[in-house]
Amino acid sequence: MSTPKQFDVVVIGGGPGGYIAAIRAAQLGFSVACIDEWSNAKGAPAPGGTCTNVGCIPSKALLQSSEHFEHAGHAFKEHGIEVSGLALNLPQMLKRKETIVKQNNDGILFLFKKNKVSFFHGRGAFAGTADGGYTINVTGPTTETLTTKHVVVATGSNARQLPGAEFDEKLILSNTGALAIDAVPAKLGVIGAGVIGLEMGSVWRRVGSDVTVLEGLPTFLGAVDEQIAKEAHKLFTKQGLKISLGCKIGAITKGAKNVTVEYADAKGEAQKAVFDKLIISIGRVPNTIGLNAETVGLALDERGFVAVDDECKTNLPNVWAVGDVVRGPMLAHKAEEEGVAVAERIAGQHGHVNFNTVPWVIYTSPEIAWVGRTEQQLKADGVAYKAGTFPFMANGRARALGDTSGMVKFLADATTDEILGVHIVGPMASELISEAVVAMEFRASSEDIARICHAHPSLSEATKEAALAVDKRSLNF
Ligand code: FAD
Ligand code: NAI
Repeated sequence: MSTPKQFDVVVIGGGPGGYIAAIRAAQLGFSVACIDEWSNAKGAPAPGGTCTNVGCIPSKALLQSSEHFEHAGHAFKEHGIEVSGLALNLPQMLKRKETIVKQNNDGILFLFKKNKVSFFHGRGAFAGTADGGYTINVTGPTTETLTTKHVVVATGSNARQLPGAEFDEKLILSNTGALAIDAVPAKLGVIGAGVIGLEMGSVWRRVGSDVTVLEGLPTFLGAVDEQIAKEAHKLFTKQGLKISLGCKIGAITKGAKNVTVEYADAKGEAQKAVFDKLIISIGRVPNTIGLNAETVGLALDERGFVAVDDECKTNLPNVWAVGDVVRGPMLAHKAEEEGVAVAERIAGQHGHVNFNTVPWVIYTSPEIAWVGRTEQQLKADGVAYKAGTFPFMANGRARALGDTSGMVKFLADATTDEILGVHIVGPMASELISEAVVAMEFRASSEDIARICHAHPSLSEATKEAALAVDKRSLNF
């Protein structure tokens, strides 16, 4: 057996939580290893985790391509651009997505080199304790034994299975299969009208699928501000997404070339739908398999997440955990913030993550984005608030873009005027939300935003106008 390689910090998992923690720890002067088991189709290392390989990046690539296709088919005409002979080249669309994924994989490997992070391609597992630290075995393409004082667990999450409907990635698809369908399915079923269901449903609808989304809950996007969710529901339905709420899913049966889903609809009536492909997107579960957590006594919580406190400390000294494998929103930027904070805490600094200002974005068209509390949460919390909304219909830039759907909504404390939540459904909501995040991070009031000069014509003027509307003085509506 070769001599164990010694590090100050070993990070298990090379997704946004892990690779960012590794880079930050290296910047702070530690010797750092990052272990990741993801391989691409050629067996080469593909760090970046779910986000890079089968999540954020490929989904946004396909969302962009499919939106261009839809615009070329419909929206361009209004601009006076006539398109004839429009055709979908799905293999090229998928190839472009793969190229972008690989650019990101390679970019992370480059960043590891630049920051002197040692990368190990394989599965990392606790092997025991040694000299006040830990021994980690790497198996797979690389076989190594590492010793370290600090361990950061960043092993991410996997798609939740629906009992009786195992993912085969051919007919019954998780996010992995949903991002790699090689022929547009005439009829696509989606179980779960959450973030993945809506984003992937949008992609395949835009390129020609007849998409039906079956959601268990009676409300649409329950975590989103009700007014925004209602508007989004209306817009998605108008686009042709068939969304059925309050469905109780029954038997799912695979045929040779299709899948039959039996379910009871909101009225309790038995329904049967046959789909060419079925995406199941009903949430994700933490990934701790193969970590050998029990060898060192690493505690999991009752839902299988690695149990951590507010600072990402586990029950074991110098073992930390970040990202999807711990409590909190399953978002890449949340994982990254935790990764940075943990590296800084290891260095004795005061790393900090403000969970109240983590933004959410759903990359549909229009996009949905929010930060802070919703109106229904403020009501439930008994907080007195003022609300202001501004529709994109009244925004000059949105008109010029030809994208006037949706609105910006501000919620501010009734007494202090501090911004408590900002909710957007509309064009470029993913970019617009950053202003609200900054404002809330600095505990700004809606008056602060209302008094800031915003460029004209820009979509961000809708943000200013919504802030003005809190005090019932919007100027353009
Ligand atoms: P992961 O990204 O899951 O990375 C964990 C890594 O650890 C993986 O590479 C895994 O193979 C590896 N690993 C696990 N166990 C071991 C082991 N024992 N040894 C070695 N390696 C191991 N979030 C956003 O913020 N914005 C988005 O637009 C967005 N879009 C998404 C779209 C889809 C379709 C999906 C599925 C998710 C999306 N997410 C998005 C969520 C985002 O992908 C996750 O929140 C994020 O990837 C979590 O990062 P992580 O580092 O905690 O885990
Ligand atoms: P989700 O939690 O967003 O949505 C799951 C939906 O499935 C919910 O509406 C839920 O009520 C429904 N559901 C659960 N069980 C069901 C059942 N048995 N029958 C019918 N419906 C059922 O989960 P999703 O879409 O799988 O995504 C997982 C996570 O990945 C997200 O929560 C998010 O954290 C992350 N993600 C983030 C993205 C972004 O930031 N843009 C994009 C995609 C994923």
